[in-house]
Order: sequence, then C-alpha cells, then structure tokens
Amino acid sequence: MGYPYPSHERETPILSKYFGDAGARTLDGWRQRGGYDALQKAVSMDPQEVQTIVKDSGLRGRGGAGFPTGLKWSFMKPDGKTHYLACNADESEPGTFKDREIMRWTPHGLVEGVALGAYAIYAETAYIYIRGEFTEPYARVCAAVEEAYAAGVLGANVMGSGKRIDVHVHRGAGAYICGEETALMNSLEGRRGNPRIKPPFPAVAGLFGKPTTINNVETLAAVPHIINNGAEWYKQFGRADNPKSVGTKLFSVCGNISRPGNYEVALGFPFKEFLYDLCGGPLPGREIKAVIPGGSSVPILTREEAEGALMDYEGFVASGTMLGSGGVIVFDDRQDMVKQIARLARFYAHESCAQCTQCREGTAWTTRILERIRDGEGTVEDFDTLLSIADGMTGKTICVLSDSCATPVISGLSKFRHEFEAKIVANRSVVNVLGAPRASAA
Ligand SMILES: Cc1cc2nc3c(=O)[nH]c(=O)nc-3n(C[C@H](O)[C@H](O)[C@H](O)COP(=O)(O)O)c2cc1C
Ligand code: SF4
Repeated sequence: MGYPYPSHERETPILSKYFGDAGARTLDGWRQRGGYDALQKAVSMDPQEVQTIVKDSGLRGRGGAGFPTGLKWSFMKPDGKTHYLACNADESEPGTFKDREIMRWTPHGLVEGVALGAYAIYAETAYIYIRGEFTEPYARVCAAVEEAYAAGVLGANVMGSGKRIDVHVHRGAGAYICGEETALMNSLEGRRGNPRIKPPFPAVAGLFGKPTTINNVETLAAVPHIINNGAEWYKQFGRADNPKSVGTKLFSVCGNISRPGNYEVALGFPFKEFLYDLCGGPLPGREIKAVIPGGSSVPILTREEAEGALMDYEGFVASGTMLGSGGVIVFDDRQDMVKQIARLARFYAHESCAQCTQCREGTAWTTRILERIRDGEGTVEDFDTLLSIADGMTGKTICVLSDSCATPVISGLSKFRHEFEAKIVANRSVVNVLGAPRASAA
C-alpha cells in the first residue's frame, strides 16, 4: 500500500512522486533521485536566465492568487540592494494540507526550490515561514537545511559556485493571518502579524524595508523540475485550449469523501472524474451535496456545478468559483449547510487581525447572525442584513480575509437558501443530521 493510497494512473505525480518514500528525506537520498541537479545547473546561469525560464514555463503561484511566478521574480532587478525571499509555509487555509506533505516527505525539494528562487531574485538570504502547528514538517525542514549547510549546498559557496545563499527557518505561532504576505513579513520582523497597506508592494519595500519576493511552498518546489526539464516540458501539462493554466497542481481533499488525501493532477482535469474516480466519490449510501474546491475562501459549488467544472484557474472561474489553494472540502447530504457556513464565519471572525472596521465588525456580526439562524432564532430580515454586511466586507479592507468571510456566506445563501429558510421558518434542518443511510444505498 502506497502513500496513503497508490497513486492513481490518472495522476501526474511530479511534486508528489516521493510522497511516502522515506528515503527521499535525506540529502543523499534526494541526490540519488536527481535532487540538487537543478540548483547546480542554475548557479552556472545568470539569474536573469532562471527568471526567463520560469516566466516561459507559465508557472503561477500556488498559494491562492495564481500570480505568474516569473513575472513576480522579474520585479527583482540586479540593483545592488539587499533582497529577500520569503517562502510562505504558513498553510492555514481550512481544507489545505499539501505544503505540509511536501515538507514532510521532500524537504530537500523545498530547500532546493528556495535556494533557486533566492538565486533568481538576486537574494542571499531566504526565510521559510512555517505554520506553528506543523511540528513534523518543521523538524524535517530544519534537518534538511542543516544537512544542506554541512554539504555546502547552502552557505557561502553554494554548490562550489562562490555564490552565497543563507536559509533561515522561522516557526509561526498559530495565526492564520500570518499567511497573508505582508503580515508574514511583519511577523518575521518580530512585530504583530498585521497586514500592511499596499503600496508599497513587497518588491519595492518588503522585509526590513528591502525588495522582497514571497512565494508559496508548492510554487517553489515546482521550480527545480522546471529548471531540469525546461519550460516547454512544464507547459505540456494542462488543457490544450487553455495556455493560461499549465503544469500540475496538488489538491488536498477532505470531508465526506471515500479517499481523502493529496492528489496531483495536470491543471484542467475534469472535477467530476477527480471526485468520483480518484477520490472514490461519496461514502457508501451517500450523495455529494456541495463542494468548496479551493480552500474555505472560495465560493461553494453545488454538486451539479462541481461535476461540470474543470480544475484550473479559468475553469473554476467559469463555474463560479476559484482554484484558490486547492483545498477541496466535500459535504454530503447529511451536512447542514447553515451550520457549516456559520462554522466558516466563526473561523474568520477568530482570525481577523481587527485592523479594519468592516472586517472586525463584519466577521463578528456575520457569525452572530448565522449562529442565531443555526439555533432556530433567525428572522427573514437576516438575509438582507447578512448580504448587506457581506457587501461592506468585500473589496474595502487592507487584505482579503474580510472578502474570504463574505464569499461562502454569499454563495451559501444563494445556493442553499431553502436550508436557511427552513431553519428560520420552522427551526427545522432539511437534512438528516443523524446520518441514517439513504434507502437507495443498496
Ligand atoms: C488571509 C490570508 C492568508 C493566506 N495564507 C497563505 C498561506 O498560508 N500560504 C500561502 O502560500 N499563501 C497564503 N496567502 C497568500 C499570500 O498572501 C501570497 O499571495 C502567496 O504566499 C504568494 O505566493 P505565490 O505567488 O507563490 O502563490 C494568504 C492570503 C491571505 C489574504
Ligand atoms: S481585512 Fe481583516 S484581517 Fe485583513 S487587515 Fe483588515 S482586519 Fe486585518
């Protein structure tokens, strides 16, 4: 039995190829699997060339926003200033646990990607900011960094090139907001993890006021493969009719699904096949009711919408949602959507840094109203109140945490309104929350 299931024949395991293979965790093991060849190759090139290859590959940020990585790197010029790379390993988006597995199984793959990224943006110092709760990934990444220093992969003479790259691992303290790139920088500087107003953008004035690039773990871990195999190789993965979304993507799957876990597929993969063939579909006797495809911050899809979606940036937008972080959360017919959406709102209210009035008050009031409806004490006016609060929370704050709370509320109210109405009118849930198998289960 592989990790945690054998790879499905329709997966494209590039980043996940060595998940479950403990031998890949050590420096020697990583080298035996072709590790650090890309870094060796890159340090003999001009950083500009590395930027160009990544730009040509079409790689887009896997942290949520999908910003083109090569373009982001091209903002970093050889200007003689101190530059920094920050690797965002804070991974706290509900439903998302792909970066965790990269760090647990292939920590050297991440270290190599971080060193490559630092080199490409003319930085001698990189930070890996790891979610505080990630005990094992933290230990694995620290061990890999230590081994890399001892072997001369990091430090004053990277792979014998005479170039310097230092990597520091920093452990967070359990705040979701520190995954927002400017909050992450404040936290690294030892300040409260509050997002900063942009501009200035990090590429102009970031960490310690210096030009900085922030990239997600999965983004950086993809770079060695691109340097080894070339931009054209990477571009072959994806839909022929959508050159904007290329490469492979890790999707974390959780909730009411037969085979939860991480799956790596080429972008553009049909979501229906993904849910039913790769992930095994719903639990026996159950039916999928709703899916959040990209972490808790993106609009909820009904089963019908999910089954028609294609798994890439544009495909999910065409279906009314977003790719986000790739955290797929599945709800079956036992789930009370009022309760689920109230639960999400409570998360955002708890994690708001409270700088912006719309977010501080909006997330708190949204939670209170949703919990009141959940408890059978809602009124029909609550619909308008919730939508009006959601409007005030969208596009008006320092960061998008506020929008992220409004999104599932707006999509949930429009798609599962009958469940809210049943709670308001008769304090009745329209689902069988006890979960007795449906009659048609046989
Ligand atoms: C509230 C909030 C939380 C975020 N959390 C993460 C996170 O845990 N990991 C991550 O990579 N990006 C996270 N992001 C996105 C980052 O701000 C940033 O866009 C990303 O790290 C850039 O990397 P990429 O270009 O490689 O995707 C978050 C954004 C927001 C608004
Ligand atoms: S939107 Fe919310 S989390 Fe983001 S800066 Fe404003 S108060 Fe803080």
